[in-house]
Amino acid sequence: MKKYIVFAGLLFTYSCNVSGGLPERAQPSGFRVKQIPSYPQQSGGDPEVGFDYLLNGDYIGSGIPLSLFGKKGSKRDSLYDRPGVNAGLPYQFSAFETANQIQVVNGNCFTCHSAEINGQLVLGLGNSYSDFRVNFPAMYRGMNTTMRIRYKKDAPEWQAYEDFGNYFKAIGPRIQTNQPGVNPAARLAEACAMHRDPSDLTYRETPNFDMPSYNIATDVPPLWNVKKKNSLYYTAVGRGDFTKLLFQAALLGIPDSTQARAAVSRFKDVLAWLQTLEAPPYPFPIDQQIAAEGAAIFGENCSKCHGTYGENPTYPNKVVSLEVVRTDPWYASYAVTAPIVEWYNKSWFALSEPRSWFEPEAGYIAPPLDGIWATAPYLHNGSIPTLEDLLNSSQRPEYWERSKEPVDYDPVKVGWKYENKKGKAGKWTYDTNLPAYSNEGHYFGDKLSPGERKALIEYLKTL
Ligand code: HEC
Ligand code: HEC
Repeated sequence: MKKYIVFAGLLFTYSCNVSGGLPERAQPSGFRVKQIPSYPQQSGGDPEVGFDYLLNGDYIGSGIPLSLFGKKGSKRDSLYDRPGVNAGLPYQFSAFETANQIQVVNGNCFTCHSAEINGQLVLGLGNSYSDFRVNFPAMYRGMNTTMRIRYKKDAPEWQAYEDFGNYFKAIGPRIQTNQPGVNPAARLAEACAMHRDPSDLTYRETPNFDMPSYNIATDVPPLWNVKKKNSLYYTAVGRGDFTKLLFQAALLGIPDSTQARAAVSRFKDVLAWLQTLEAPPYPFPIDQQIAAEGAAIFGENCSKCHGTYGENPTYPNKVVSLEVVRTDPWYASYAVTAPIVEWYNKSWFALSEPRSWFEPEAGYIAPPLDGIWATAPYLHNGSIPTLEDLLNSSQRPEYWERSKEPVDYDPVKVGWKYENKKGKAGKWTYDTNLPAYSNEGHYFGDKLSPGERKALIEYLKTL
């Protein structure tokens, strides 16, 4: 059943050219910079229990029967040495028991939220090596046919698979991207919500709303910043209780709100684990004297949005309007008009305690810069491969390609080693001319001299 391992891997990691059908652009923001208030969070969770639940837990609710999926160990498994039913499964997958006691497999958070850098697997680092240009509808048909061949329609395996099958069918056409490396998780959640009853989360064949056909995807942010943030996501759309927000991946398979309630109660521990995550330290030498000069430049030019670092760090939680940051507007433009906002705010997520809700802004959050050396490519759409290019807009590549192996780190420009391409040459060429993927904006480093920029980059390595 190798095919299905590949299939399920694609489900969360990887994607036919989709064009046209862009959503409408947002109206002017009406603000320049706005501070996001903090909301009470649940405390007292156990980080170890949370990590164990993320790796082995049943929060996706349904999936592919383990007897169909099979098991294929990978060298990375030994990292976690998982017990029981998960022994020998690649760590991006979790096997768990469904409500009707069938063992199934599905992807977990680490398919998107772990990656290798400099030869090390870093949990919590965004995976920017996924390729969602895959033909998911064809994959769905293949998976369904195999289920039909293997199990009778009244077999308990069908019941254990059915919810996931339904949502996978719904998301198929909505998560294909036209760019490599970017991740359509927000569209995935929206396509699932399109087919869920907002109050009890059960499947509805008739969609609640429609979605534009152009799929806007993003980079994946690192999880070690959650502890500093008052809201989640690039547009600050995620407000209120984080446990419910973190739980959105479960929309892909959880059968109903009763099971959702049981699973989300475990997310207090998940949140506690996230709060223990630290950015990995820069692995190469740093010139501390130059970095100290950079610290002063950072204080003058960058701190008011990105905060201060070191002994007593501060983080202002500022969302910056599209007019001020001037980075690609499409993701935020869509976020403020997206039908999932209304769905979410009248759903189980928003109406039952602990409450979370969606409040998008026509702008982007200025993120904490902890571990920024490791989180290339930069900006919400991952359009800029290095910090040097980010801080000098005249140098940003229009078409760029990095090798697919995550070993090519550039300690000089700080980020991915890449090649400038003329046009869309290779399979892994990032094309900044596609809608939603432009590399414009964030011109805050342009006014600095080359020497100042070099010092600033040296300082950024220390964060
Ligand atoms: C299909 C890939 C995928 C899966 C699976 C996934 N995420 Fe994410 N996650 C993303 C992407 C992409 C974003 C960025 C979306 C945005 O910010 O608008 C994100 C954002 C987040 C954020 C917000 C970070 C910030 O700085 O605002 C958190 C926290 C998070 N995910 C946690 C989780 C947890 C916990 C799970 C598992 C229960 C999970 N994610 C599963 C792709 C994924
Ligand atoms: C007016 C507020 C503001 C100022 C000033 C500012 N930034 Fe930013 N910065 C932002 C916002 C907003 C984003 C997110 C933009 C996006 O993703 O489209 C960002 C993104 C970034 C990123 C990319 C983060 C990532 O994870 O992809 C880096 C690095 C960065 N800024 C560094 C700097 C440095 C260095 C300076 C000083 C020269 C600076 N910024 C000045 C608001 C600001």
